[in-house]
Amino acid sequence: MCGIVGYIGGKQAAPLLLQGLEKLEYRGYDSAGLAVVDAGNGGIIVKKARGRLSALKKMTDCGKSIPGILGIGHTRWATHGEPNDVNSHPHLSRSGRVALVHNGIVENYAELRQYLCEQGYGFVSDTDTEVVVQLIDHYYENDPVAAVRRAADQLRGSFALGIVFADRPDLFIALRKDSPLIVGLGEGENFIASDVPALLAHTRRVIRLGEREMAVVTREGVTVYDHFGVKLEPEVLEITWDAESAEKGGYEHFMLKEIMEQPDAVRRTIAPRVRGDFTIELGLRRLTDDVLRSLDRICIVACGSSYHVGMVARYAIERMARVPVTVALASEFRYDNPMIGPETLVIIISQSGETLDTLFALREAKERGARVLSIVNVVGSSIAVESTDVLYTWAGPEIAVATTKAYSTQLALMQLFTLYLGRVRGRLTDLEAREEVRSLLATGDKLAELLKDTSHLQYLASLYFNRRDIFFMGRNIDYALALEGSLKLKEISYIHSEAYAAGELKHGTISLIEPGTLVVALCTGTKLHEKMLSNIREVKARGATVIALTTKPIPLDPNHPNANPDHIIELPACCELCAPSLSVVPLQLLAYYVALLKGCDIDKPRNLAKSVTVE
Ligand code: AGP
Repeated sequence: MCGIVGYIGGKQAAPLLLQGLEKLEYRGYDSAGLAVVDAGNGGIIVKKARGRLSALKKMTDCGKSIPGILGIGHTRWATHGEPNDVNSHPHLSRSGRVALVHNGIVENYAELRQYLCEQGYGFVSDTDTEVVVQLIDHYYENDPVAAVRRAADQLRGSFALGIVFADRPDLFIALRKDSPLIVGLGEGENFIASDVPALLAHTRRVIRLGEREMAVVTREGVTVYDHFGVKLEPEVLEITWDAESAEKGGYEHFMLKEIMEQPDAVRRTIAPRVRGDFTIELGLRRLTDDVLRSLDRICIVACGSSYHVGMVARYAIERMARVPVTVALASEFRYDNPMIGPETLVIIISQSGETLDTLFALREAKERGARVLSIVNVVGSSIAVESTDVLYTWAGPEIAVATTKAYSTQLALMQLFTLYLGRVRGRLTDLEAREEVRSLLATGDKLAELLKDTSHLQYLASLYFNRRDIFFMGRNIDYALALEGSLKLKEISYIHSEAYAAGELKHGTISLIEPGTLVVALCTGTKLHEKMLSNIREVKARGATVIALTTKPIPLDPNHPNANPDHIIELPACCELCAPSLSVVPLQLLAYYVALLKGCDIDKPRNLAKSVTVE
């Protein structure tokens, strides 16, 4: 996810562009840049740098050193190409006639890059975005709209684009597919931005561009066209949010916004890695199929929620790829004298890519000769750079300390890797793998369906937000989910909570269950469903209050109503591989609404940091 701004009007553009980018840094902040049309000299001035926006402001004297009244700006969250000066946006075409900024992922950039190389184009960056600006340049003669439309029709994937032309100081073009883009309407000036916060200092009148719509923006006005070039009369909206709530997209907290972003985040992470025939393209460079076939075991190492993803992945890998898997806490791993070596694949999972416990575990694994695959959300982070191979989740920046969309994308990516591994090692037939991939691709839609109505979770939170202790229990994969549900609740509501393997409860902890104790029972796994119903009756017999989470109906005993769960949350039917991605959502929402009712600082819980860079 990146931040885009654009301006044309009577004022100096660069300072306004920087002010807009400041409001979008939550969308990405590993590099930033500006491109301003220098009408006096007939060129485009491009200034860009790795690092936070402050580096760009320092480089340009807060924009004062760049003349011009028309420009675009960008703050980056890297997906393709390390965060560095060259890979940062805007990108300039070979001829210097076109510059653009991009938010999204161009899935077919490799083939387009090949085509352009055959046309004599060279490339200076590792990004998918540079392919777009060169493609527009390739088609540009004297009609900017036609050149952009022709190039865009060849792009696959997601893109929001802001585009300027050296020989057109009177306009710029905005275009979007899947990634958001908004037009701001001023008096004698007009704007574009990825999100509302960047516009509020200048206007509250906006046009939200629709799918594949293009806006031609001049000082005097904005003309919007649909995908086929038909002129539209778009609705002009009046924004009523204040600036701070606008950064959260109108949500009260980043955590809720990020919970709601999960469908798109999972789609962005999975779809680009699946071909049209439902085969998988992971893009691994060093972990070849032969290496994956030669492995004798896998060790997953992580912390916190990332560790919980590893717990879920263990079940899936052992079931579908039949490779023995152990899961280790990073803080324990390197003091454990781990039994790993060249035939071991260590999978490191980390949203931030900077967790020190996990980074040290990675180094320990490499010292012992193991290959390391990392699952990371931050491109170019320490863990990503030091791994043998890396698979990036494309969740976009996650601001809330309590992870949600990063967890979900890690889960989905591990499931995709599991299917790839199972296929490569001959444990899944081609047909079986394709069927599972097809189901996995539907996860985003099922998440969206699940998030349409959160009222039941709000109601449950209102009943139980004052509880002192809350237990979570489950079996097999549901036990791993119980760990995540318990952690979410603890870290943002400060309520004591424990997660237990349901079959283990009777070996001691059940002594803590007393009348009124709240137990969240996860029963999404089909083969242990009956056993979970027994565990529910076990705690009900001791007076517990039970919230049951299930993917299949739970028969209620009319003769023994006290043996039944007090509340049932039914999830949409889905494949066993997708169930964990869906089950975690009610647990995230329950934690969120409980913390909300308790008045906790949800995005920045006490004692916690988003990235734990100490041992
Ligand atoms: C999760 O909500 C917590 N913020 C925490 O457990 C986190 O998952 C853990 O610190 C690991 O972080 P990482 O994924 O960035 O390595």
